[in-house]
Amino acid sequence: MKILILNGPNLDLLGKREPDIYGHATLTEMMDAVRARANDLGVEVVCEQSNDEGTLVTRIGHCGGEIDGVVINPAAYTHTSVALCDAIKACGVPCVEVHLSNIQSRESFRHASLTAGACLGQISGFRGMSYLLGLEAVVDYLRRKDAQ
Ligand code: DQA
Repeated sequence: MKILILNGPNLDLLGKREPDIYGHATLTEMMDAVRARANDLGVEVVCEQSNDEGTLVTRIGHCGGEIDGVVINPAAYTHTSVALCDAIKACGVPCVEVHLSNIQSRESFRHASLTAGACLGQISGFRGMSYLLGLEAVVDYLRRKDAQ
């Protein structure tokens, strides 16, 4: 089982970006924790990040056949990208949306997600733990599906 962890814009700046909101851990440290949890779960993960909407759309849209499940933090594109929503719907691969911060407790423009409705569900507000919960959720979903 192979899971794609896909990170959107500005998440490469974690560690120095608004640490009061996102914490002090870097994306590399968070992805190392994801790799460790994936190892415990017995699944393979690939971790990627892009600041470019088109790159994210293309990666999601073409991941079917190679990737079994996706954990995505679309970052700011959560609130703006119909194209990313369409790519998630089109790819046929189950996705879980994650956010480090609790987007419901922040500015009103962050309350709406254009992408969450195309996903199995959304996990928001647990900083780096959101990725681990997202990974467990998509692996659990795929294992239950396989068992049917
Ligand atoms: C974020 C929340 C978004 O609103 C914001 O634009 C981000 C990060 C989060 O993980 O909390 O870049 O997706």
